[in-house]
Amino acid sequence: MVYQEQYSRYVGMVEETMEKILPQTEAVCPKDGGVIPQYLCETMRYSLLAGGKRVRPVLLLAACEMLGGELEQAKVPAAALEMIHTYSLIHDDLPGMDDDDYRRGRPTNHKVYGVGHAILAGDGLLNFAYESLLGNAAAYPDNLQGHVLAAKAIANRAGVTGMIAGQSLDLLSEHMEPDADRLAYIHTHKTADLLTAPLLAAAYLAGADEEAIERLKRFGWCVGIAFQIDDDLLDVEGDAALLGKQTGMDAQRGKMTWPALFGIEAAKERSARLWDEAEESISAFGERAWFMREFARQLRARKS
Ligand code: IPE
Ligand code: IPE
Ligand code: MG
Ligand code: MG
Ligand code: MG
Repeated sequence: MVYQEQYSRYVGMVEETMEKILPQTEAVCPKDGGVIPQYLCETMRYSLLAGGKRVRPVLLLAACEMLGGELEQAKVPAAALEMIHTYSLIHDDLPGMDDDDYRRGRPTNHKVYGVGHAILAGDGLLNFAYESLLGNAAAYPDNLQGHVLAAKAIANRAGVTGMIAGQSLDLLSEHMEPDADRLAYIHTHKTADLLTAPLLAAAYLAGADEEAIERLKRFGWCVGIAFQIDDDLLDVEGDAALLGKQTGMDAQRGKMTWPALFGIEAAKERSARLWDEAEESISAFGERAWFMREFARQLRARKS
């Protein structure tokens, strides 16, 4: 199968699963239990179904398939991870955080629904993600351990020693004297952790061995750091129309970024080395890793 077909197949699975577990509702003020109020549901769906590259769920499905796991079992975890990522974006854009007006090619959630409901949309997506993960785990009693470990890996990488920790330091470091260790911490946690999470989740779902897990962790970290350095570079040199978000915002906010600390050229060199290392770190999987390899190459060349 050619790359583009496979990518579309994975994205299709993610979109279909998200639509299935978070359907539209017309109940403004629901009379019975188990129904999300219409306005809340609309604000969650507004950001979740606004496109986006779907990098994290695609990585989860691709790694699961590569490791011989059952894709059917991985669809809800993949959708849940995209919900967690989307919540992190909604909150990242809030006035108390990066205060951004555009995301995924449209006004940010709080610009349309108000700050209160943007907070609730994020809270909603986060909780719904775990509710979905746990429900899915219970549907596969024969692989309960795999599902529990996958959910734990996601919770850990998204949590207070993971993405949230990175976001905390990102905020605290605004306008601060640049510091390489601090920047490495921010990038590892705010971004690389959520890119390692799908690989670990896939490994646990598929019952992979320690060696495979270590390789995937290395791949996830390299991809994650390179991805964030590129994000920082795109904020300086990218095209806002292609990105679907404003550029030049990091300098305006005094963010600690790779280009700010080391300069554009050094940032590009570091990113290139990491993308090479990412590819190397999965070379032992051989042909089985063909999609992951190509996916990394596509991300390396991204303009959006
Ligand atoms: C944006 O993530 C936030 C970062 C970690 C840089 P993506 O670039 O994956 O955003 P979407 O999901 O495609 O919108
Ligand atoms: C955000 O990093 C990482 C998240 C956890 C959301 P950025 O703040 O650089 O992401 P963008 O540039 O707003 O997408
Ligand atoms: Mg931010
Ligand atoms: Mg931001
Ligand atoms: Mg950015």
